[in-house]
Amino acid sequence: MYSDTLNISYFRKDAAFDTLYPQHIRELSEMHWTTLDVSLEASNFLATPGARILDIGSGVGKFCISAGVYHPEATFYGVEQREELFHHAQIAKEQIGVSNVQFIYGNLMDLDYDLYDHFYFYNPFYENIEPRSRIDHTVWTSSELYRRYTLFIYGMLNKRPAGTKLVTFHAPDNQVPASYQLMDNSYNSVLKMWVKE
Ligand SMILES: C[S@@+](CC[C@H](N)C(=O)[O-])C[C@H]1O[C@@H](n2cnc3c(N)ncnc32)[C@H](O)[C@@H]1O
Repeated sequence: MYSDTLNISYFRKDAAFDTLYPQHIRELSEMHWTTLDVSLEASNFLATPGARILDIGSGVGKFCISAGVYHPEATFYGVEQREELFHHAQIAKEQIGVSNVQFIYGNLMDLDYDLYDHFYFYNPFYENIEPRSRIDHTVWTSSELYRRYTLFIYGMLNKRPAGTKLVTFHAPDNQVPASYQLMDNSYNSVLKMWVKE
């Protein structure tokens, strides 16, 4: 799945990976982008041969790109509502030279979820209720959107078949339907692995 020129030096530490992005994007990393160690642990749980894994709100693609390198046997998709972040994800993907990763520019409410098997969810709606965590001002945020997106993902997850895997990171448990069983957790319980019964 890798190109011949896959550059593994980016994967030694987060600061090295973040050099893929411009300075103002690097400054958002600590609060908003998945770290490499979390990505490895999450993708170890989600990836199986042929699986299609969706990052719900993929930002600049740090989870998808690193997970795609760690697990060439699966395909990682990311949907992102901010065009600038989508653009940086595309550039970083090309720079790394990983081919089992695809980014979609758009709103998560417009996807066909039948195209995906398992899901990664890094608390993407929080900026709707916590202004200090806003990434930028290019999208509208509101408590109404928080409620609408949360209900939408909850309903979508509830409809997925038994065996669907979900990893949540810093996400409230009430965003996960009761039909999902908690299988494991780490990082003081902020990273959680779930499977639908
Ligand atoms: C906390 S960041 C996580 C980024 C990425 N998953 C990672 O782990 O590195 C959440 C992202 O979700 C995106 N997002 C939030 N609501 C969205 C929506 N309705 N549709 C698409 N993307 C959304 C935000 O723009 C932001 O880039």
